[in-house]
Amino acid sequence: MKFDFIKSAAGRVFLPAFILTLAACGGGSEAPRVLTPEEQAIKDQVDARQANFQDLGAAFKAVGDELRAGRPTSPTVIFSIQAIRSYAPQMQRWFPEGTGPDSGFETDSLAAVWDNREAFEQELASFQSVVSEFSAAAAANDGDAIRAQFRVVGESCESCHERFRAEE
Ligand code: HEC
Repeated sequence: MKFDFIKSAAGRVFLPAFILTLAACGGGSEAPRVLTPEEQAIKDQVDARQANFQDLGAAFKAVGDELRAGRPTSPTVIFSIQAIRSYAPQMQRWFPEGTGPDSGFETDSLAAVWDNREAFEQELASFQSVVSEFSAAAAANDGDAIRAQFRVVGESCESCHERFRAEE
């Protein structure tokens, strides 16, 4: 009997408080929404794409820093070019359907990636081709060629960003 009394008292006191808390959370714009498995899968793909581009950006910057420091064939340069080389052919898979600006997730990819797929594929193909030459220059340990290709690859990054990435 005593136990029943505590239970009902607890029910009276805590249940309304619990409901109030829920209502407060639901009304707040910053409350994290629980994603469906489908939404979560899209979000994971967008996050992975951005993480990969950040890695790519870091590798490219590492080469630039070494070139400025007068070390065009340092191990950092060779290693970073290899990393860029291995990312280039994967890039095509970083843009699956449904991961664009309409997804509702934070992305700088423009809808043009999907709406103008042919032009995007061309950017990808030309990026892959200049990266191959970058990689060949690294394999030959040719500092001058690495310097020259660094600029060409940089222009290719820019070219795609101009057309397919939102301005910062
Ligand atoms: C074929 C097109 C294309 C090429 C080539 C390309 N990018 Fe990008 N990049 C994008 C797009 C699209 C985004 C936006 C990704 C998003 O937010 O969904 C992006 C985003 C980025 C980001 C920001 C990532 C983040 O969210 O923090 C960096 C850094 C970056 N790219 C660096 C580079 C570098 C460096 C190169 C060349 C070595 C390069 N990209 C080549 C299309 C490209």
